[in-house]
Amino acid sequence: MTALVTGREEGRGSPAGLERHGQPGLFVVLEGTDRAGRSTHVRRLEQHLRYRGRGVTRTSLATSLLTAKAIRAAKRERRTDPVETVLLYAADLAERIEQVILPSLRAGLVVLADRYVYTPMARAATHGVDPGWLDRLFSFAPAPDLTLLLDVDAETALARQGRHGPDRYEAGMDLGLSSDALESFRLFQDRLHTWFEAQASHYNFTRIEARGTPDAVAALIEPVVDTFLAGR
Ligand SMILES: Nc1ncnc2c1ncn2[C@@H]1O[C@H](COP(=O)(O)OP(=O)(O)OP(=O)(O)O)[C@@H](O)[C@H]1O
Ligand SMILES: [Mg+2]
Repeated sequence: MTALVTGREEGRGSPAGLERHGQPGLFVVLEGTDRAGRSTHVRRLEQHLRYRGRGVTRTSLATSLLTAKAIRAAKRERRTDPVETVLLYAADLAERIEQVILPSLRAGLVVLADRYVYTPMARAATHGVDPGWLDRLFSFAPAPDLTLLLDVDAETALARQGRHGPDRYEAGMDLGLSSDALESFRLFQDRLHTWFEAQASHYNFTRIEARGTPDAVAALIEPVVDTFLAGR
């Protein structure tokens, strides 16, 4: 693992990144930092598209049959090795690509993904894993047709915590940034935010200002997706 945690940029994949899926369906990914509203807007977008008569499949991180349990166990046991973690997420994704994403795209459906390769990559990269190795690890994954980056600063995300504070994982407690969970969340999510910003052009993210109300954010997302669908 030491060889993988170098922080060097060399060996990086091409800017084009992942290969296109080449299927009749449309693959739309919602990404962003924790509490950015990814799950809220994947659900809302599903409803929006279904009302317009589109067939939609939804898929989310860590929902595979074979690996979701192992991911939950790793979290429960507080295992924090960033390479082990990202390999688990890659295995989770490999199953969902074969079982859910590609079959749905072949059938001409719109696939909505609540996070994709980018969240595991961001987490691993901010834990020091080599970016070139991460690009190669996820090179099996087809490129999304559209990736919407929900842009929310850490302060706004914290205000969305509700009654429960962030969990250890969302706060990146293993990095030792702060012993205070809220402060650690702020600092860690800030690092993830910086990673997403820095990768926006490399991975062709479409940035959505997502600090507004859910209605305001949906009003920004829906025309982008509608226009994209109309152009296909
Ligand atoms: N635009 C918004 N303004 C205020 N609160 C919001 C907004 N969008 C979502 N929320 C609330 O913030 C919380 C997080 O939203 P959501 O679950 O959609 O985010 P997420 O990006 O999927 O986060 P995570 O998966 O880390 O929980 C929820 O309680 C949700 O109701
Ligand atoms: Mg969510």
